[in-house]
Amino acid sequence: MRVIVLDALTYAGRLDNIRDVLGDRVEFVHGDIRDAGLVDRVVARCDAIVHFAAESHNDNSIADPEPFVSTNVLGTFRLLQAARRYDVRFHHISTDEVYGDLALDDPRRFTEDRAYQPSSPYSSSKAASDLLVRAWYRTYGVRATISNCSNNYGPYQHVEKFIPRQITNILTGVRPKLYGDGLNVRDWISTQDHSSAVWDVLTRGRLGETYLIGADGEHDNLTVLRAILRVMGRAEDDFDWVRDRPGHDRRYAIDSSKLRKELGWRPVHTDFDAGLRSTVAWYQAHRDWWMPVKAATEQRYREQGR
Ligand code: DAU
Repeated sequence: MRVIVLDALTYAGRLDNIRDVLGDRVEFVHGDIRDAGLVDRVVARCDAIVHFAAESHNDNSIADPEPFVSTNVLGTFRLLQAARRYDVRFHHISTDEVYGDLALDDPRRFTEDRAYQPSSPYSSSKAASDLLVRAWYRTYGVRATISNCSNNYGPYQHVEKFIPRQITNILTGVRPKLYGDGLNVRDWISTQDHSSAVWDVLTRGRLGETYLIGADGEHDNLTVLRAILRVMGRAEDDFDWVRDRPGHDRRYAIDSSKLRKELGWRPVHTDFDAGLRSTVAWYQAHRDWWMPVKAATEQRYREQGR
C-alpha cells in the first residue's frame, strides 16, 4: 500500500509529524482540499480517499466561522467530486457533535439513526459535509462510508485541545482553565483506537453506512482535569474557572454497538488513567514539539476570555 498525504499545513499541521515515515510508501503533497485542480491530480492516482482534513476546533469556529464553512463544506465537496470522477472509494471522518448534545441524566447515548442537531459553527459545518457524502452516495453512487467519533486524546494533539492545553499550561507555570461549571461530559477515546476503527470501516464497512466510534469513556471535565493535576503532582484545586463557551454542548456519549457487532472492532486502550499518564509523559518529553505554538494558542484564548 502507498499513501499520499495531502495537507494544507495550517496552524494545526506540522510536516515534522510524518517526516520519519516519508519515503517510497508515504508521499507528502502540500496543498488545500479546496483547490479543485490539485485535488483532481492527486485523486487520479488513488484507489481510496480517507478524508480527515478539517478545521476542527469549536472555540476557533465561534471566533471566526468562515474557514469552517469553507474548508469543511467546500473542501468535502471538492473531494467528493474527484471521487466521483475517478470512481474512488471514499471514507469520511466526522464527529459525534453532529448529533448535538445529551442531558447529563439522559439514559440514552448517540446511535447512528439519531437526528442531526449540531450546535456550533464547527459541528454544523461537519453535519453539512456528512450530508454531502450521503447525497453523493445515493445520487452518484460514490462508494462512501462515514464514521463519527467522540473526543480523541493522545500524543501529537494540538495544544488548543482540552487535555494537552491543561498539561502544557501546567508545564509552563500557567493554571489550567475550566469552562462553565466543569460538569460537561466528553466520551474519550485514544487516537490509536480511533484509527483502528477507521481502518476497519474503510476495509470492511458496508457502503452507504455510518458507523459511530467510541470507547465507553465518559468523564466530566472537572474529573479529567483533577486526574491530570494528580498525575502531575499538583493540588486538585490548582486551576482557574473561566467564562463558558457560548452554546457549549453538555454531554456526548457514543453507543458503538453497530461497529462492534458488524465489524468486530474493539478498543484496546481503555484504561483512561494509564492513557492520561502516557499523554502527560509525551508532552513532558516533547517540549520542542509544542512550545513554538503554545504562546499563540494562549493568546487566541485570552482574546476570547478563556
Ligand atoms: O466530540 C468530538 C469532538 O471533540 C471533535 O469533533 C472536535 O474536533 C474536538 O475538538 C472535540 O471537541 P470539544 O469541543 O469537545 O473539545 P475541546 O478539547 O475543545 O473541549 C473538551 C471539553 O473541555 C469541552 O467541554 C470544553 C472544555 N474545555 C476546553 C478547553 C480547551 C475547558 O473546560 N477548558 C479548556 O481550556
